[in-house]
Amino acid sequence: MEAVSRVKHTDFLVIGGGAAGLRAAVELAGTGCKVLVVTKDRPVESSTEYAQGGVAVALSDEDEVAIHFRDTLRAGDGLCRAESVRTLVEEGPEEIGRLMEWGAQFDREGVKLAFAREGAHSRRRILHARGDSTGREIMRTLIRTVRTHRNVSRLSHACSVDLVVSDKTCRGVLVSQGSELVVCYARAIVLATGGAGQLYSRTTNPLVATGDGMAMAYRAGALMEDMEMVQFHPTSLYVPGAPQFLLSEAMRGEGGILRNARGERFMTHYHEDAELAPRDVVTRAIVSEMVRSRSRNVYLDMTHLSREFLKRRFPRIYATCLTYDVDIADEPVPVSPAAHYFMGGVHTDVDGRTTVQGLFAAGEVACTGVHGANRLASNSLLEGIVFGARSARTAAAYGLAKERPRGGQKVRVIIGERGGHDLDKVRSELRRVMWDRVGIIRCARSLEQAEERLRRWDRLRTCQGVSRGEIELRNLLDVAWIVLESAKRRSNSVGAHYRSDHKGKEKGWKRHIRLQRAPEPLF
Ligand code: FAD
Ligand code: SIN
Repeated sequence: MEAVSRVKHTDFLVIGGGAAGLRAAVELAGTGCKVLVVTKDRPVESSTEYAQGGVAVALSDEDEVAIHFRDTLRAGDGLCRAESVRTLVEEGPEEIGRLMEWGAQFDREGVKLAFAREGAHSRRRILHARGDSTGREIMRTLIRTVRTHRNVSRLSHACSVDLVVSDKTCRGVLVSQGSELVVCYARAIVLATGGAGQLYSRTTNPLVATGDGMAMAYRAGALMEDMEMVQFHPTSLYVPGAPQFLLSEAMRGEGGILRNARGERFMTHYHEDAELAPRDVVTRAIVSEMVRSRSRNVYLDMTHLSREFLKRRFPRIYATCLTYDVDIADEPVPVSPAAHYFMGGVHTDVDGRTTVQGLFAAGEVACTGVHGANRLASNSLLEGIVFGARSARTAAAYGLAKERPRGGQKVRVIIGERGGHDLDKVRSELRRVMWDRVGIIRCARSLEQAEERLRRWDRLRTCQGVSRGEIELRNLLDVAWIVLESAKRRSNSVGAHYRSDHKGKEKGWKRHIRLQRAPEPLF
């Protein structure tokens, strides 16, 4: 079967409408040119919308940019790119100030901003909004700001299928919307499609996080970096039948204690910072305790804090847990780790350039090198905002030197034959394989087993489809291969990449794993 697209033109195209995409759109609006923001689902659906803990920024009286820089490098376990980290922490305060000018309301103590503490931060530096709804406040602010620019339009429920590349230059994107295919050409494209937590059977991420941008960029020939570095958040709700709802690290920042199945506090045996150790350390400690006690979860105990404080500080978490019959003020909450964040992604320089001309990237889809092997808590929203703006400025300079595209070809898609596979079944098996074999702890044998399983679904990677389910599965399979291949190539342990067959850092550990494939004709 064949499907043919219609053609649309704009000046600048932003794929994704979370913190990074919306911040980029506001910046691009300043060019006065036409900007189009494409989102796969309803406009707010994104990881940004669900972000709880907050946004890290060196703005408090007791803090300094240099200390935020040092904490970020330390959490990154030796693999951060220092120039990118410097840019993040130096430009962060101004960007957050701008967000407040646009109307973002962060929580205050009296007239002063209230700063919270999270793991591996040596200072209280996390701004939060309505307790644990920071992401929602950032989305509200950015959406409102975007709406004030009449040259920005939005296309929602429109799933990008593939980037359109010719002469090694990205010229647009093919989008599937309802029963229609649209090929959208632009002077420059900013990719801001977020992460790929849905690759794992346990994840805090929303359904839109299927690694589409990573897979599209890889197929278009972009360099991918450190894709084996997946962050597993230590504490997601573990209640049969409930989603893996996040219990923010800020809860440990306010004194929450982790206890094993016997009710014993254990983090003091694993790290001097106990519950506030870097995330990868806390996650592995939880796994060790679960193995030792043959239990499927540990507990986050907040019962020593008053109900009044918990309701005020964590209103969304308090209310959500109650709907699953868990009263966090009365009983320790069952929790276990879940895939949360991709440190790796599409390689970019500090100005958001990928290795493909015309294609820029920002936010979780990108690897600017700010997170190294383990992201410091609450640095991601800041990254999206700082690098969303930067990538847009670079894209604007690139695009304004070019003519607005005219004409442009329609795209013909040959709908592939799935070889009898049940797509939903493949998706859930893939997620299980990734969790079991390429998850928190890996080894050569588990990676080999994952590879054997993935090979069975090879055909689906070359099989083009235009429904959202088909598009996402193909992308999940591509990202799975990139993660697997990167994990194989990093044969020792560093940060979030922990190999039980090589537990330490060995000679030559301090390198980035980079993968690239020759772009292939897509249609
Ligand atoms: P997202 O916000 O995920 O946006 C991605 C956008 O891309 C969406 O609009 C989506 O529709 C669109 N998209 C995806 N695929 C396609 C496609 N094929 N076609 C068209 N559009 C597409 N970080 C912090 O710093 N602090 C926190 O407190 C925090 N809490 C978190 C809590 C949760 C539950 C989660 C899941 C994450 C949290 N994080 C936090 C991480 C942080 O929220 C994300 O890393 C960050 O918001 C990513 O922003 P983004 O703009 O890159 O992507
Ligand atoms: C959280 O609130 O624990 C999430 C913070 C983050 O992912 O940075």
